[in-house]
Parts: sequence; C-alpha cells; structure tokens
Amino acid sequence: MTSREKTVSTRQNENLLRVARKAMKRAYAPYSQFRVGAALLTAKGKVFTGCNVENASYGLSNCAERTAIFAAIAHSGPELNIRAIAVVNDQGVPCSPCGACRQVIYEFGPEATVFFQSSKGWKQSHITELLPEGFRLK
Ligand code: THU
Repeated sequence: MTSREKTVSTRQNENLLRVARKAMKRAYAPYSQFRVGAALLTAKGKVFTGCNVENASYGLSNCAERTAIFAAIAHSGPELNIRAIAVVNDQGVPCSPCGACRQVIYEFGPEATVFFQSSKGWKQSHITELLPEGFRLK
C-alpha cells in the first residue's frame, strides 16, 4: 500500500464526521446525557459507526469508539485494519478517546489517524501520539 492510499482525504474525513453524527443520535446515554458518535474507515475503504451505550451499572457503559470497532468486527470479521476513526459529541466540547478506547483502537489500527475535538478545536493525531507504548501480546 502506498502512503497516498494510507492518507485520509478531506472528503473521507467529512464523510466520517457526517456518519459519526448520525450514529451519535442513536446513543443510549440517559445517565450522562452526553451523546457520542464514532465512525471508522478501514484499510479496505469500508465505514462502520457506533454510539455510546450506557448502563445503570455505570461501569458497564460502552464508548462510541469501541461500539464502532465491535460493530466492524461483527459485520466483517476479525481482519480489521483501522485507517482512521472520528469522534463527535452532541455538546460540541473537547472529547478525545478514553484510555481504554485508545488501547482498543491500537489493537486494530496501530497506524490509525484519530479525528477528535480538542481544547484547541478539531485535531488529527496518530494513535501512537495518543497512546505511546500501547500494549501488544506478541
Ligand atoms: N464516551 C464515549 O463514548 N467516547 C469518548 O471518547 C468519551 C466518553 C461516553 C462514555 C459515557 O457514556 C459518556 O461518554 C460520558 O462519559
């Protein structure tokens, strides 16, 4: 794969943000009232989305990013390679993936680009900037 194929075009980025917003509207967030959507682009050019799904036992809640990753595997199998993942929220506030999601993104996208809202506006980071020394079993 060439480096050109690895980069995410403006059009792909805009599409990820658009479908992430659509997924965000399906969030189940009655406890935090903080709706999050995520959309990922695979190396094969497919797009999968997810939203946060909370639980009365708060710790069981699942973030939008992990929902999108699990949906991708449920639909297409375990050979997932994430090129990019975008995260949006319904309050327009800074929201970068939590530590658990960073590790899960890294598992399936060690070269992934992450788009998120930071305190200085929209930001694009390599997953290893967000998660230095991510865990690998082998
Ligand atoms: N949340 C996400 O879905 N993704 C993030 O990147 C940050 C936090 C969710 C988890 C919980 O349902 C709510 O936001 C408040 O923490």
